[in-house]
Amino acid sequence: MNKDWTLYTEDDTIHTLATTIPNRKCKFRALLISDAHFDSVSCDRGLLKSHLDQAQKINAPVFHFGDWFDMMQGKDDPRGSKNKVRDRFKAADYFTQVVEESAEFLSQYDNLALWGYGNHETSVMRRHEIDPLMMLKASMAGKGSDLNIGGYQGFVTVRANLRAKVYLTKAIHYFHGAAGGGHVSGGMPENSKTRSAFEADLYYAGHQHNRSMDDRIITKLNSRGRAIVRSQKISLRGSTYKQEAGKLGWFVEKGMVARPQGGWWVDFSVTSGTPGTKEEILSMSPVMA
Ligand SMILES: [Fe+2]
Ligand SMILES: [Fe+2]
Repeated sequence: MNKDWTLYTEDDTIHTLATTIPNRKCKFRALLISDAHFDSVSCDRGLLKSHLDQAQKINAPVFHFGDWFDMMQGKDDPRGSKNKVRDRFKAADYFTQVVEESAEFLSQYDNLALWGYGNHETSVMRRHEIDPLMMLKASMAGKGSDLNIGGYQGFVTVRANLRAKVYLTKAIHYFHGAAGGGHVSGGMPENSKTRSAFEADLYYAGHQHNRSMDDRIITKLNSRGRAIVRSQKISLRGSTYKQEAGKLGWFVEKGMVARPQGGWWVDFSVTSGTPGTKEEILSMSPVMA
């Protein structure tokens, strides 16, 4: 397992994750998650912490693609519910307390790569004219920790250095998500829509609070028009850390059911490409987290 990596910011929605993979026995692992809803009483903080602890132990970069915050218990939020407020947040400075608690929790980790926006963050931006992720970044900076903030969607290039002047790359496209549901479809229609609009090797979406993998091969001619080349496109949908199923409440009454918890580990390694050639490719192997 390789433990060295650096995240470079090209702009708000374009980042490069640079690492080295010196031999074929070496793997590089990243954690891709979303929808922690950390301040919600329904967040399974024990599971979330165990995933972040495992990632820190092997220095795997952690990506969180939207809905880190739940933030539905502000006094003017119609989605709020009196029995769903953590004691610490029963305060006049609700948003400050929510952000501060997350900053305290996340500052213990030195392997956080990128935090993107979800609809729960943008909803707060619209209603209250504050940016919770930028507040989180500032609060963590005050504790000596850095947090890179991405977009609601964007790209991350994984660039692996094999040896002198030899690099392999894979492009990740992330999108928090738009359509609700996905219980029957598993988010496949949304994956198809994303693949038709964005060119990448690995796609991550969250938001639907369901987990799935959709593995496709694209066949095309090479740049000289003389040979067939095939490329893999993997769409990952990460679920949530919320545990909402129960006896009563909005979630139950809307006909929603228990969801999986967690997201995906992705292992990057160097393998052989086209048989009969010396081609090397960067392989991606997702594992449920
Ligand atoms: Fe969510
Ligand atoms: Fe969402």
